[in-house]
Amino acid sequence: MSKPKVLFVCLGNICRSPTAEAVFRRKAIEAGLDVYIDSAGTGAWHQGELPDARAREAGQKRGYSFAGQTARAVFDTDFRDFDFILAMDRRNLQELKQRVTENFTGKLDLFLEYGQSKNQEVPDPYYGGLDGFENVLDLIEDASDGLIRTLQQIP
Ligand code: 4NP
Repeated sequence: MSKPKVLFVCLGNICRSPTAEAVFRRKAIEAGLDVYIDSAGTGAWHQGELPDARAREAGQKRGYSFAGQTARAVFDTDFRDFDFILAMDRRNLQELKQRVTENFTGKLDLFLEYGQSKNQEVPDPYYGGLDGFENVLDLIEDASDGLIRTLQQIP
């Protein structure tokens, strides 16, 4: 595959998918993989905002950078432009399945399908405490390692 393009999707694009973007970007660089990475929300309420301050703080403590990230909604053109569209939970996967366009030839999956944890969804941390953001990071780091292995196997 030419340079793979990966889009991470959650609801607001301020907590989970920006964290996935930051974590996966660093891991891809460390693995020497050339990948285009972006994130988006199925909802547009937070368009233009920076990632949530709690998500940034928790991620930055583990060395991840959120530089350049601002929230955006999913576009119809994303289905034409991305090879992997990875949802943080079933609700967002369902929403994406309803919006998918016929020119989409990629993979539309739950992100955690690439991980080894028994969890299939990254729980929404927005209304909870700081431990929720640490849990988000743990799940995303695990699934990112799995996605790296998957991409490394593509000829
Ligand atoms: P995210 O978290 O989908 O991980 O970005 C949320 C952010 C905002 C809201 C819900 C979830 N909200 O209801 O505004």
